[in-house]
Amino acid sequence: MSRLTLSVNGNDVDVDVDPNTPLLWVLRDHLQLVGTKYGCGIAQCGACTVHLNGVAVRSCILPVSIVGDQPVTTIEGLSPEGTHPVQEAWLGHDVPQCGYCQAGQIMTAAALLAQNPSPSDDEIDGAMSGNLCRCGTYTRIHAAIKTAADNR
Ligand code: FES
Ligand code: FES
Repeated sequence: MSRLTLSVNGNDVDVDVDPNTPLLWVLRDHLQLVGTKYGCGIAQCGACTVHLNGVAVRSCILPVSIVGDQPVTTIEGLSPEGTHPVQEAWLGHDVPQCGYCQAGQIMTAAALLAQNPSPSDDEIDGAMSGNLCRCGTYTRIHAAIKTAADNR
């Protein structure tokens, strides 16, 4: 076990964990940030996506020891009141169905728009291609990202 200090959603937090523990389980089991979901555990679905230093990463395969002092943002910390342009566009387009994949979808979309405020259709499809949705909400996700880009 190691004692690590992480910066999560703007707060410094101490955790006692095996340094090989994936960040996902530190967030969910140690910090009770359960908005980030476990889907596949092998970097194939995107359900566990969070931001590390503003970049979308798969927390299910990221050992917590690699995080260091880089800021981590989860769906809970994306905006104080759920008013990030991506979240508002998601509501406007009524995107979620079961909801399971949606935190990961939103975090990937938010990272895309932070990097590329006016993505083309192909750029949206490329950025989102690794986030799977078993409910098939892809058309609404794409439309919501266009709306969020327009409203930024
Ligand atoms: S749970 Fe991490 S990519 Fe599927
Ligand atoms: S909304 Fe159900 S898995 Fe995407």
